[in-house]
Amino acid sequence: MENLPGPRPRRTCERNVFPQALTDAQARVQACLDASMKDLTGQVGDAMRYACQGGKRLRAFLVIEGARLHGVAPVQADRAAAAIEAIHAYSLIHDDLPCMDDDALRRGRPTVHIKWDEATAVLAGDALQTLAFEILADPATAHSPETRLAMISSLTRAAGAQGMVLGQALDMAAETADTALTLDQIAQLQACKTGALIEWAGQAGAILGDADPGPLRQYARALGLAFQIADDILDVEGDADKMGKRLGKDEAAGKATFVSLLGLDTAKARAAELVQQAETTLAPYGSEAQNLKAAARFVIARDS
Ligand code: IPE
Ligand code: IPE
Ligand code: MG
Ligand code: MG
Ligand code: MG
Repeated sequence: MENLPGPRPRRTCERNVFPQALTDAQARVQACLDASMKDLTGQVGDAMRYACQGGKRLRAFLVIEGARLHGVAPVQADRAAAAIEAIHAYSLIHDDLPCMDDDALRRGRPTVHIKWDEATAVLAGDALQTLAFEILADPATAHSPETRLAMISSLTRAAGAQGMVLGQALDMAAETADTALTLDQIAQLQACKTGALIEWAGQAGAILGDADPGPLRQYARALGLAFQIADDILDVEGDADKMGKRLGKDEAAGKATFVSLLGLDTAKARAAELVQQAETTLAPYGSEAQNLKAAARFVIARDS
């Protein structure tokens, strides 16, 4: 057949629309967070708004994309995205406190306890946590009370003493442990510390759409672990200006990470394997899941 001149047909599945989709998700979740906190007054309110600015918004993106795959209304997705980013912001405020990682810089700016004081940081974190559940409990998040309850109870488990809080406790305990953690123990620590909230974000859209969260949960589990391994790698060889936080702190503090146990090269190979695994779990969604596949690749390719 003759080669006709003219534009080549664009194949949707090959276009890289991920950067724009991430930018859109960032704007949407910021607007929802701003609206949720607009009436807050005083120093704690100011600190909450401050802590909710910036960031990559990966968790919000996962919620929004998962919701889109299940036909959930954007306004509902944005509220769930705002809830998980509020919990994440709370976890970062507390993670940076002197009694934990003692960090002065976050997202390129002074941490909340440096800009204000420790009491304000504790209270702003506390109030961001309750704000997340207030957002989810509102009928605007889901018409059905059962769906709202499923969202709330799954997030309590992800954030609480069997989820993120447990991970943070294990992370702190490992700093002073007599013996180094095993690979399985580190994987467990990270699955709780970072994985639990990312897993919730991954499956929230399916829960909102009253669908089986199984495939997205598997995806987010692999992505979450890859994400934390990348964070640990970037702590060693990242650029502090791009990352917006102090680096080299894991080794200094004696943190248990994949990098501390396996070294950089093996940790990178493990993260790449996990990304591959995450992409494979998306097969049931076909080309509709191209943004989620790109997000999996992004978590290990990122420099911030
Ligand atoms: C930082 O999370 C803390 C970890 C769980 C490693 P992010 O790297 O997602 O932080 P932001 O939200 O983009 O600032
Ligand atoms: C923080 O992990 C995890 C949570 C806040 C739950 P890190 O301590 O490794 O995060 P960074 O490196 O300070 O961002
Ligand atoms: Mg920490
Ligand atoms: Mg930290
Ligand atoms: Mg880190």
